[in-house]
Amino acid sequence: MFTEMDSIHKNANTINGWLSRSEGELLYKLASSLSGNIVEIGSFEGRSTFYMALAKKDNEKNGFIYAVDTFTGSTEHTKHGKIDTYNTFIDNMKKYNIMDYVKPIRNTSIKAANECNRSFSMIFIDGAHDHDNAKSDFLAWSPKLEDGGMLLFHDTIMWKGPKRVIKECILNNDEYTIKGIVHSIMYIQKSPPSFLGKLKGFLIYGYRGLYELMYKIKKRKL
Ligand SMILES: C[S@@+](CC[C@H](N)C(=O)[O-])C[C@H]1O[C@@H](n2cnc3c(N)ncnc32)[C@H](O)[C@@H]1O
Repeated sequence: MFTEMDSIHKNANTINGWLSRSEGELLYKLASSLSGNIVEIGSFEGRSTFYMALAKKDNEKNGFIYAVDTFTGSTEHTKHGKIDTYNTFIDNMKKYNIMDYVKPIRNTSIKAANECNRSFSMIFIDGAHDHDNAKSDFLAWSPKLEDGGMLLFHDTIMWKGPKRVIKECILNNDEYTIKGIVHSIMYIQKSPPSFLGKLKGFLIYGYRGLYELMYKIKKRKL
């Protein structure tokens, strides 16, 4: 049976990007349930922005998606030369009538954070994936996350940077509770973990490692 979510994915797939179906669905569901502003670090051509902005529109939630990006790509995107994804990003937002829900911020993550005095109900980190940048993104933006808000890291599987940031900054941090993992997105709530919540966080982090191992084995067999 063709569901409403299927048609959302079909449109999302017209936008270049790496976000998987299940990850998009997670962004859509979380953004549907949260009021207030959301910031994403790393928008590229807007696939993840699309899911979150559409969720705001469909559910008449207040707040905007602040899309922070230099729009010039990360190192892995510029191996074959310079890129600029800004116009394509804007065209994609206009194509799906969600521009009213999006505030593009063309800047580096750290400069944008320094110039921003808003708070956010959700932060999605998907910028540069090396350890230093992923950690700087976390340190610059996390103080702006409201209590009870959601913090999401993309690429916690197979990318050393984001997974090390989770280990260093989240796993033993009594301000955050790891809620789950969907494909490569680990999603975390800014709320003190209970004893069981902390245990669950370690189990989710362990499961992440197992998933990565299985993925590597599968890839070697192909
Ligand atoms: C993996 S892509 C984002 C993909 C996007 N979330 C999606 O769903 O398609 C990473 C993006 O981060 C941006 N980026 C990398 N380093 C950045 C930095 N220091 N400040 C701002 N943006 C950065 C790149 O320009 C690139 O567009």
